[in-house]
Amino acid sequence: LRPLPLDLPNLPPMLPGGLPFVGHAGELRSNPVAMVQRGRDMFGDIFCVRLPGTLGVVMTGHAAQEKYFRFRDDEVSQREAYQLMTPVFGKGIAYDAEPQIMKEQLGFFHGALRESRLRTYTDGFIAESEHFFGKWGQTGEVNMLEVGNEVTLYTSTRCLLGDKMRFKLSKEFSELYADLEGGINVISFFAPYLPLPAMRRRDKARVKMVELIEKIVAERRSDAHTHEDILQTLVESSYADGRKLTVDEITGLILTIMFAGHHTSGVTFSWIAVLLAQHPHIFRRLVAEQREILGDRERITYDDLQKMKLLEATIKEALRLYPPIILVMRRVLKAFEFQGKQVPEGSMIIASPAVGQRVPEVFPEPHRFDPDRFMPGREEDKRWPYGHIAFGAGRHRCMGIVFAQLQLRALWSHLLRNFEFDLLDPSYPVDYTNLIVGPRPPCRVRYRRVGQQSAGT
Ligand code: HEM
Repeated sequence: LRPLPLDLPNLPPMLPGGLPFVGHAGELRSNPVAMVQRGRDMFGDIFCVRLPGTLGVVMTGHAAQEKYFRFRDDEVSQREAYQLMTPVFGKGIAYDAEPQIMKEQLGFFHGALRESRLRTYTDGFIAESEHFFGKWGQTGEVNMLEVGNEVTLYTSTRCLLGDKMRFKLSKEFSELYADLEGGINVISFFAPYLPLPAMRRRDKARVKMVELIEKIVAERRSDAHTHEDILQTLVESSYADGRKLTVDEITGLILTIMFAGHHTSGVTFSWIAVLLAQHPHIFRRLVAEQREILGDRERITYDDLQKMKLLEATIKEALRLYPPIILVMRRVLKAFEFQGKQVPEGSMIIASPAVGQRVPEVFPEPHRFDPDRFMPGREEDKRWPYGHIAFGAGRHRCMGIVFAQLQLRALWSHLLRNFEFDLLDPSYPVDYTNLIVGPRPPCRVRYRRVGQQSAGT
């Protein structure tokens, strides 16, 4: 642990509280959003917290977020902030790679996420919605968090490994994936290689995952069929020097995109259920939008999804109120100044979508669920380019925004046309125990099947 540079002149103000050695880590673990909000209420856009072995500098509010997301990679480093992912993604992959190599690796995803591919994936999202929700009865009680995570696991497997593998491999893939995830928690931020049972399971699961992907890659290499999935893009890709990706790298990149896109979409799916059941007038307007775009048609297309503007705005608003990634981090490589305060080299800067998206100067009545703020005429996100940061911003902005939007629109378009929902519990609090933050289980919801004609009337 390095001593914290607390004696430097002109540091941002220090948040009171915290304990010896661990500083504010306890509060960061139990309720990070309340901690960041407490600091913002006391000091405004910038303040310090003590973290194990490092100084944290929290930056919220539009000006601070703009500064944060405009840094270059030689000024602040994601690599050093996200070391916890290395045991899952693998050595030399994504955040563990040199920035130039990471850029090339993420570049492979550009090919996998181009429009023609998104059209293919969308067919998979639509087919999965029909298959998955087709099995629901006339009425029933579900845990919407589980539903969100399960249905997006299937859609992800389709896009990553193809429709065939969705049915063949989902169970094995999901068990290994659960063990990998179990080894990622707040402790691993500071000590990713502690010899704890969860971390051992994580490491074993990664070895098995490489074996699993190795078999599929070998089949692909001897297979004349064309495959339109992310695995195929990676199998065909090479680095700028002509080198092909190894199976370990392919597996690491599959896991990178899975970790980036699966639970984030799953918890957003479940928040939408909660928010729509709490706001029936928005639910009815969304059902009307479906009718307007589709008429009596049951089969939807990629182009239909593009027209669903209120649904798009609803997803954006759910992500504003409940961003699955509540904090993002960077290690400072070059000291800088902001609002007259000095931020030293080596400190960890933190931005918070959860707090930053509820700043009233940017989003009036910030705690109100109001999808219209993103509709033509208001477009509050366009007026404040660093206000809506659920997908990050700047050079490392999420690469899966369109993918996530299309997936959520396909799933919700199906639900809006076929079901109504009621909440079963008095409140649906946020659960901060996982790295990807969603509603606290069991997140119970009752569904009722409706005909398209009677829905919302
Ligand atoms: C980066 C959020 C879905 C791929 C990010 C970041 C955020 C984010 C906040 C920036 C992290 C930072 O600045 O440190 C989300 C949310 C999602 C979602 C809320 C769903 C609702 C997806 C999906 C994919 C994806 C579906 C892929 C298909 C990526 C990648 C990056 C990224 C590759 C790294 C970009 C870079 O560093 O240049 N995401 N994401 N995400 N996301 Fe997403």
